[in-house]
Amino acid sequence: MTVAARHSPVRSQKRRGAFITLEGGEGAGKSTQTRHILQRLRDARIAAIGTREPGGSPDAEILRRILLSGDAKSLGPAAEAILFAAARIDHLDKKIVPALAAGTFVVCDRFTDSTRAYQGATGRLDPHFLLALERVTLDRLRPDLTMILDLPVEEARARAAARRSTDLGGQDRFESEGLGFHQAIRDAYLSIAAEEPGRCTVIDARESEAEVSRAIWATISRRILRKPAAELAHGR
Ligand code: TYD
Repeated sequence: MTVAARHSPVRSQKRRGAFITLEGGEGAGKSTQTRHILQRLRDARIAAIGTREPGGSPDAEILRRILLSGDAKSLGPAAEAILFAAARIDHLDKKIVPALAAGTFVVCDRFTDSTRAYQGATGRLDPHFLLALERVTLDRLRPDLTMILDLPVEEARARAAARRSTDLGGQDRFESEGLGFHQAIRDAYLSIAAEEPGRCTVIDARESEAEVSRAIWATISRRILRKPAAELAHGR
């Protein structure tokens, strides 16, 4: 991708689909809720794709394996942040931007706020470094709506442990960090929401799956579709 192409207006002005991201700590139900959103959008006859980070495109999935295995940890937090950004650039260029330009909604399980929260929570990175990295990575393309699924850290840990006991997966590079790290992530997400209320909204993830799904759909209806949720559900 040339510099000129990365600064093409397609990355910002010409897109027509909405870009929605879900954020939050582990165990908050982001993947489940991403599936619910996609179903509701399709029920409303809106073209939509779901994707996730790190990963989402074939090359970014390679970086995902390296990052979550912990193999990149010894490179240090700055290099890890750069690898997350590299994966994001490929994901944007190969999947997100083309879909938005085609008028398709994109629902992404984690995006740039994960880097702000997780890599920021290491406490070893200059916030200016993370901001600069975000600027060059996103090149003006920001999510239209970010929903932060908020859960107390102890509850999140208990849910994640229960999930691991059923899917037999081990802890990844970041799950294995201590309670203090996860508390810093929760605090970081709440600060992001407070700083950018136009883009972000906090959803109480302690509620039932159905209740959280309803709250999310009400938010999308109001902020993105600009219609009451009930009208969308019945007037297809
Ligand atoms: P994943 O299993 O996809 O997410 P979840 O914990 O929601 O089930 O794991 C992704 C991990 O990578 C998660 O611990 C958060 C971390 N991460 C970062 O540290 N920085 C980032 O920019 C992203 C996208 C993820």
